[in-house]
Amino acid sequence: MSTYTEDQRKVTTRRLAEMKQRGEKIAMLTAYDYSMAKLIDEAGMDVILVGDSASNVMAGNVTTLPMTLDQMIYHATSVVKGVKRALVVADLPFGTYQGNSKEALASAIRMMKESSAEAVKIEGGSEIRESIERILCAGIPVMGHLGLTPQSINKFGSYAVRAKEEAEAAKLLEDAKLLEELGCFAIVLEKIPAQLASKVAKELTIPVIGIGAGGGVDGQVLVMHDMLGINKGFSPRFLRRYADLSTLINDAVARYVDDVKTCDFPSEKEQY
Ligand code: KIV
Repeated sequence: MSTYTEDQRKVTTRRLAEMKQRGEKIAMLTAYDYSMAKLIDEAGMDVILVGDSASNVMAGNVTTLPMTLDQMIYHATSVVKGVKRALVVADLPFGTYQGNSKEALASAIRMMKESSAEAVKIEGGSEIRESIERILCAGIPVMGHLGLTPQSINKFGSYAVRAKEEAEAAKLLEDAKLLEELGCFAIVLEKIPAQLASKVAKELTIPVIGIGAGGGVDGQVLVMHDMLGINKGFSPRFLRRYADLSTLINDAVARYVDDVKTCDFPSEKEQY
């Protein structure tokens, strides 16, 4: 049971800023459906991210690129229904905001109108500046995402740690400052050196949430399937597993199969 569940007030972008100011860490986790979102919210999560990692863990794709806006809206709509307290942020998927800011705004508006998510997250820095500005103009809160940005996997060529070299680190810091200046309410830093992430968090007034970015940032985010041990094939160094659900589910399902085959289920008490 979380020790932080007493505060039942709704989490807003403003409350996240206050948390950073008073040095309270922000807990963020992904969810993609109603039932899990409800459990995660009840456990005291601050931010629930409807990540386009749904492409990997829900749809079985190798990358996040195939995800469509309709699919993300479907997941976000289900999550929102299960959440009372956490701030719900939804990823805009690949191809729905890059290159054309009018399309970016239309995508963000569809997400907000159809799913009732409370903010959108988009990947990139100066190259998507116009999209961020236009979305913010409509009063839609934007969370940035820098470092390893999985929608650019074909440009990077691998999921290795980003911004290890000085030039890339300098560009990341510059981009982070730009995102703050434009009005993003928070940013995610994925898989970058801890020292760099800590520097970014210190230099920015908006919350910086890390995944594989060390402990010097303002909060942490993980993919739910990874931290619950549903997705056992993925074990990067930054991941801490809090459960072994794949074993638990496997055992339970195998026992059910066995009970059906041996006519142990249903018993007299389990029928009408
Ligand atoms: O899609 C996702 O789950 C994410 C997190 C890894 C931050 O963007």
